[in-house]
Amino acid sequence: MEETKFNQIGVSFKGSGSYVPDQILTNQEISQKVDTSDEWIKSRTGISERRISSSGDNVTDMGYKAALTAIEMANWDIKTIDLIILATSTPHDLFGSAPAIQSKLGACNAVAFDLTAACSGFLFALITASQFLKGGNFQRAVVIGADQLSSYIDWNDRRSCILFGDGAGALAIEATNDFDNLIGFDMRTDGERGSFLNLPSNNNKDLIIDNIDFLTGGFSPIQMNGQEVYKFAVREVPIILDKLLKKTNYSSEKVDWLLLHQANQRILDSVGDRLKIPREKILSNLEKYGNTSAATIPLMMDEAIRNSSIKKNDIIATSGFGAGLSWGAALIKWG
Ligand code: COA
Repeated sequence: MEETKFNQIGVSFKGSGSYVPDQILTNQEISQKVDTSDEWIKSRTGISERRISSSGDNVTDMGYKAALTAIEMANWDIKTIDLIILATSTPHDLFGSAPAIQSKLGACNAVAFDLTAACSGFLFALITASQFLKGGNFQRAVVIGADQLSSYIDWNDRRSCILFGDGAGALAIEATNDFDNLIGFDMRTDGERGSFLNLPSNNNKDLIIDNIDFLTGGFSPIQMNGQEVYKFAVREVPIILDKLLKKTNYSSEKVDWLLLHQANQRILDSVGDRLKIPREKILSNLEKYGNTSAATIPLMMDEAIRNSSIKKNDIIATSGFGAGLSWGAALIKWG
């Protein structure tokens, strides 16, 4: 077995960054396309508007901009970055978009790859990167969550098109040898319930030559059973967070911020109620951005860090959940 280079036991959080496209789509504007209203969307979801990528903003571009601002906050020499993980379900290149971000950054000493776990993707990528750092071979990692779901939405389906938007966020994390600011984590999937939320492939049969056929590549728009996804989230997220708090010996009073995947304000409030975490500790920006899939957690975190809501040593209970079905939780100390 290869020997590890460093004796590392944990990670610390050094920087955050985010990026959203300029183009804003309001509820009012969506109601020009499908039979809905600002009042309906706001009262059922908490969302007022979302950002939509135009031709200049694909996942690679958005992820790059978020990563760069996180690296700037960390004040790192780009050449010292060892690892870049891009959580996305909508890569600009199905073979992977992380190496293109690596190249744009000039992070010539890093290895970069994509990870797909839908709206849990960022959390899964953060935990994955932390394991590499704790393993002792890498010291500095950039974890990016970026998605462009607007390209995969059926804009005639009022049950789903109101929810999603585009964006990116990133964290810069570093190995430590005397403490661990990723206090604890847990991850789950349940493929049995996978049909509640899909962005499925759509393959048509075609012929290569007379007697050899093949399937063309492509995807159908997002298909969602909103009620089942809602029930899944309000049931599983409090359970996984409660278990994590117990495992790490933290009571919910010790949590400074509850940072959930930004899917629906009613989900955020319900999880907060079940964990007895008051509303003022629940971070939310989905009014402005809707559900940006893998981007929501780092996008929210970056906003809260830059406006000084999240301060050094604050305890953040975070949970991502979504298609797969997949869900996970992490307890983080910022800094
Ligand atoms: N505007 C107006 N009416 C709408 C509508 C819209 N955008 N979308 C659905 N409706 C209608 C339905 O057609 C239905 O009408 P009917 O009773 O005449 O059939 C009615 O509103 C209720 O539909 P329902 O699906 O029960 O609404 P809901 O209260 O469950 O809210 C969601 C729908 C999608 C907002 C909600 O289920 C949700 O947020 N689920 C979680 C989805 C999610 O977070 N997905 C991503 C996870 S990562």
